[in-house]
Amino acid sequence: MRRSGESEQGPPFAATDTEWWHQATFYQVYVRSFADFDGDGVGDLEGIHSRLGYLELLGVDALWLTPFFTSPMADHGYDVADPRDVDPVFGDLAGFDRLVADAHKHGIKVTIDLVPNHTSDLHPWFVEALESPPYSAARDRYIFRDGRAGGAQPPNNWVSVFGGPAWTRVADEQWYLHLFAPQQPDLNWADDEVRADLERTLRFWLDRGADGFRIDVAHGMAKPAELPDMDLRAVGVIGDHDFYDPRFDDDGVHDIHRMIRKVMDEYPGAMAVGEVWVTDNHRLANYLRSDELHLGFNFRLVLAEFDAAAVRTAIEESLRTAATADAPPAWTLSNHDVWREVSRYGGGEVGTRRARAMALVELALPGVVFVYNGEELGLPNVDLPDWALQDPMWERSGHTDRGRDNCRVPIPWEGDLPPFGFSPGDETWLPMPAEWAALTVERQLEDADSTLSLYRQAIELRKTHDAFAGDALEWYGAPEGCFAYRRKGGGLICALNMSDIAVPLPPGEVLLASGPLDEGYLPPDTAAWLV
Ligand code: GLC
Repeated sequence: MRRSGESEQGPPFAATDTEWWHQATFYQVYVRSFADFDGDGVGDLEGIHSRLGYLELLGVDALWLTPFFTSPMADHGYDVADPRDVDPVFGDLAGFDRLVADAHKHGIKVTIDLVPNHTSDLHPWFVEALESPPYSAARDRYIFRDGRAGGAQPPNNWVSVFGGPAWTRVADEQWYLHLFAPQQPDLNWADDEVRADLERTLRFWLDRGADGFRIDVAHGMAKPAELPDMDLRAVGVIGDHDFYDPRFDDDGVHDIHRMIRKVMDEYPGAMAVGEVWVTDNHRLANYLRSDELHLGFNFRLVLAEFDAAAVRTAIEESLRTAATADAPPAWTLSNHDVWREVSRYGGGEVGTRRARAMALVELALPGVVFVYNGEELGLPNVDLPDWALQDPMWERSGHTDRGRDNCRVPIPWEGDLPPFGFSPGDETWLPMPAEWAALTVERQLEDADSTLSLYRQAIELRKTHDAFAGDALEWYGAPEGCFAYRRKGGGLICALNMSDIAVPLPPGEVLLASGPLDEGYLPPDTAAWLV
């Protein structure tokens, strides 16, 4: 049993006119996988442009576009060779301008990914660094060091997030740091040119009409000057742990965020959300101080098991962080780096039922919600054959970690056969499963009970219904394995049943439910909204 009558006082996340994002529903477009216009099997900006009508129908307020900048694609665009141009695979700058202008006509804001922690190894700076001698200014834009043990051992014991050592040795025997793939050398944020260049990039896109940024690895960037060894027990642990990990969340990072914010403040209405994989409430709140990021993803819902107590704790802790920071919480259930929730919650029909329930839990919360493309279709992860895998994690882990391709398979739009309208060509960059014929946008738009219809209704209600007013929640007493919370301002009640038996619904009129209800009862794996 849960404690009853408890309240969670949230802060007044009151939005001014320029703070349009305070209750926004964002939609993450994984550009490679959303819609392919030119037929090469890879999604592109023109493809997104061609689907603006769909995005308006879905009701989202803003897009987050994953990197579409010039890139050799060692990490599918998170290895940037020119941060101020569009890779030809994705289109060109004129196409970006068209997309922004027309998205705005549809009432949709456009935010883009910024990758400040590292560049591509083919960025002109890194090419120059390799051609320059040790200790030169060109090397100082990155993190080059001499090795230990006479040079043969890496400078410290840091491990790459993608597996293997975080250091690679170059021809003259120095080593360079890469927290991700060797093709993604980490920048040295103590270097003035590195800072000046990011400022240029920010202005470049804001001047072109971008509404803001998602900042990649926003808890990376700064590293302690002496580069001390890490506690290797931190490797692969996501979420709470006390192991010393100087690779991330160094205090020096806040200075960089203040510099970014200063530029953004010159552009009223521009916002930045950070990818901050930090779970400690206070340390996460530090990123959200009034002169740093506007928003920081709270990944607690991604990390929580399908368990009422775990999900409730995730919500409470996230609200606590938001209250400490006086910033709206930024909720997410999935993205292009984690298992899709249908599969995470058990797969098949059970997984789908649970994912639908969690969608209502999330979309009833105060603050900002990020929906990952395909989530609104209830797409599961795909078991891809070895030959199809492209994520650098697969190679780097010595074929033990299959990586993230399984949550990045292209979106099925229409028709009965792959590529389901994703591409005018036959080939897609990852193969699409034939059974997705049942999950296409076309099919789901026609079906009032589909996951897409559920998302459309939920997003619409969230945007227009008075019951969603206010920022604070109170929790009801609820049977074991269940919870119910009420939005204190507007009065919306969200009830969730994660137990094995049907439980009585709280009193009220049902606005929306994630599955069929049973005469006043809430079945297992189901959530309902009531007023
Ligand atoms: C972030 C991105 C991920 C990428 C990594 C390196 O975690 O979300 O996709 O691989 O940064 O840029």
